[in-house]
Amino acid sequence: MITIILLGPPGAGKGTQAKDLAKEFQFLHISTGDLLRENVKRNSPLGLKAKEFMEHGELVPDKLVDEMLLEKLNSPQVNNGFVLDGYPRNVSQAKFLDNFLKQNNSKSFILYLDTSEDTIIERLSGRRICSNCQAIYHLKNMPPKNPLYCDICGGRLYQRSDDREETIKNRLLVYIKETAPLLEYYKDRLVRINANDDKDIVFGNMLKVIKNDYSEIPRGN
Ligand code: AP5
Repeated sequence: MITIILLGPPGAGKGTQAKDLAKEFQFLHISTGDLLRENVKRNSPLGLKAKEFMEHGELVPDKLVDEMLLEKLNSPQVNNGFVLDGYPRNVSQAKFLDNFLKQNNSKSFILYLDTSEDTIIERLSGRRICSNCQAIYHLKNMPPKNPLYCDICGGRLYQRSDDREETIKNRLLVYIKETAPLLEYYKDRLVRINANDDKDIVFGNMLKVIKNDYSEIPRGN
């Protein structure tokens, strides 16, 4: 099993790139943010507990997120491998993941999407998501044909409630305090990618790294 872990601040492009990597290698894309938002939308017990943390840009408690992730990792959908986006978010989650990867003898590599603060703000404030298929757009950088509807499925586009200015600021603070220490934790294993570049350039640079290091990764179509 192969694991691709995308690290980076909010708005770095983790979700955008994870979708394309998963398609390229036919891996499962696991976004803990998307899974949590789905739970909030259907008012599940997990969603009810997670909602307030997410609205304030705080991390949802580890125990809830770890259990949710483990259920997904143990599902048959994980076949050859998976792309993780939004997890781990702190050292405790990284240790939890390491434990799973070790038990499953998984090859993993870790790509850090290095992004400037100006880029983050610009990307988050222009982001729009499809309420149906979760496709990610940007009003300027990756505009949909119609700013209200998804090009792929016609679903209504919306702005995430945590993409408001106040919440963005807190998400960045939480990132610096909780998630940035992972750069030290993974320092011998991670590869830094300049994520300020255009989407296709970032994707090409990630592919180069993956193919150089892991030539046995099966290719998609
Ligand atoms: P989550 O959904 O994981 O949010 P995040 O990590 O803050 O990251 P984002 O989804 O905001 O950004 P992204 O890097 O995926 O960027 P994107 O590709 O969309 O988490 C949300 C909340 O859930 C958390 O605050 C927390 O409460 C909770 N949570 C989630 N996981 C958790 C965990 N493990 N533990 C505890 N709590 C957890 O791109 C952004 C925009 O930029 C888009 O508009 C896109 O079109 C555009 N764009 C992307 N790449 C480029 C490019 N190269 N050039 C130009 N534009 C680009």
